[in-house]
Amino acid sequence: MSNSITFIVQPGGKLNGQARVPGDKSMSHRSIMLGSLAEGTTHVKGFLQAEDALATLQAFRDMGVVIEGPKDGEVIIHGVGKHGLKAPTKPLYLGNSGTSMRLLSGLLAGQAFDSVLTGDKSLSGRPMKRVTDPLAQMGAVIEATEKGTAPLHIKGQAGKLKGIHYPMPIASAQVKSCLLLAGMYAEGDTTTVEPAPTRDHTERMLAGFAYPIKQEGNTATINANGKLLAAEIDVPSDISSAAFFLVGASIAPGSDIVLKHVGINPTRTGVIDILRLMGANIEILNERVVGGEPVADLHVVASELHGIDIPEALVPLAIDEFPVLFVAAACASGQTRLTGAKELRVKESDRIQVMADGLQILGVDAQPTEDGMIINSSPIGSGEVISHGDHRIAMAFSIAGLRASGPITIHDCENVNTSFPEFKDIATHLGLSLSSRAE
Ligand code: S3P
Repeated sequence: MSNSITFIVQPGGKLNGQARVPGDKSMSHRSIMLGSLAEGTTHVKGFLQAEDALATLQAFRDMGVVIEGPKDGEVIIHGVGKHGLKAPTKPLYLGNSGTSMRLLSGLLAGQAFDSVLTGDKSLSGRPMKRVTDPLAQMGAVIEATEKGTAPLHIKGQAGKLKGIHYPMPIASAQVKSCLLLAGMYAEGDTTTVEPAPTRDHTERMLAGFAYPIKQEGNTATINANGKLLAAEIDVPSDISSAAFFLVGASIAPGSDIVLKHVGINPTRTGVIDILRLMGANIEILNERVVGGEPVADLHVVASELHGIDIPEALVPLAIDEFPVLFVAAACASGQTRLTGAKELRVKESDRIQVMADGLQILGVDAQPTEDGMIINSSPIGSGEVISHGDHRIAMAFSIAGLRASGPITIHDCENVNTSFPEFKDIATHLGLSLSSRAE
């Protein structure tokens, strides 16, 4: 457990220069999962060495997979094949990582052994019925708490799962991925039907490991007739980490930055679309495809932003970026309205309430609604806010410092280590006056 970390950001300044933010979190998780189940040795470059992805890595070590590294983002996974995992001798502790827990619940439901998944306080409060309900329809046996939360006790049902056709009630890449991974162990086809497009890294990476998967419009179909063959994975920078600087450089006059090698998979670029609708100046340079995923350098120059009604279709494509987009909205002229984003209430924290509380403390006119927020253009003041252990809240309020009238103190920032341990170093390198102290 880390100590409690407090960030202090001094007001003003601008962002200049180049940076490469760390590897994509979603892809890092999936590279360990699929590499472990593959036949042969998988090499991963650009792996995110942060607590969430490391929790997945440790879980597979606990199931007998030999994994070398990570060292400078490189990981070597000695795959054990689809049926080669071993029973863990203790509960698999997944820390703060919802992706680890939800994807693993699907993967472990059809194994020949039992397992238990646990997490920290935040993860233990997050809804798991969204995965355990459809998994139960497939024949999985998973016991959760009465509230439908972790710990999850999974009784492995090797050879007994049945494929389902599942119209998903919520747009969630974690639910979709969980069911596709379970479908690799089920009799017959498993088909997910999405209400709106969500990140498709699982589908792309399965194809990269030569596992048959069919995608047609909003459906993805998988079955047990396939095997995974080891692959070379090059993980691009995480657009969700780049997002803090996309907003920072947009709102701080005089800023001009380039973010290198950022993943721009169209199921992840909602933050660019939303910022551009608000008037941001973001150029996509050197577009290329690396290991089946589109990548580019992003050039951002400060501009005057204006408020918008955020199109609901963009919500799942920017789902992790709203904390910092709310900061952009405070700096934009007029009003910005977000609707259709109820999912934000069940992320690492209730991101609607926690951001509204913090913004109000800083003097911003931010009104939370059941499924979003209404923010009117406001000067950002000075004050003390709490991130509630949510990495993205901590980083969003750090970026708010660029337009604040006085220092902002942000409590409870230790979980920045779950996704972006280098945040302070990269932010200060680009020009943010950010310091931290351990409490
Ligand atoms: C993720 C999916 C999203 C996202 C999370 C990572 C993934 O969650 O918020 O940070 O890697 O599949 P939901 O599926 O709950 O929307």
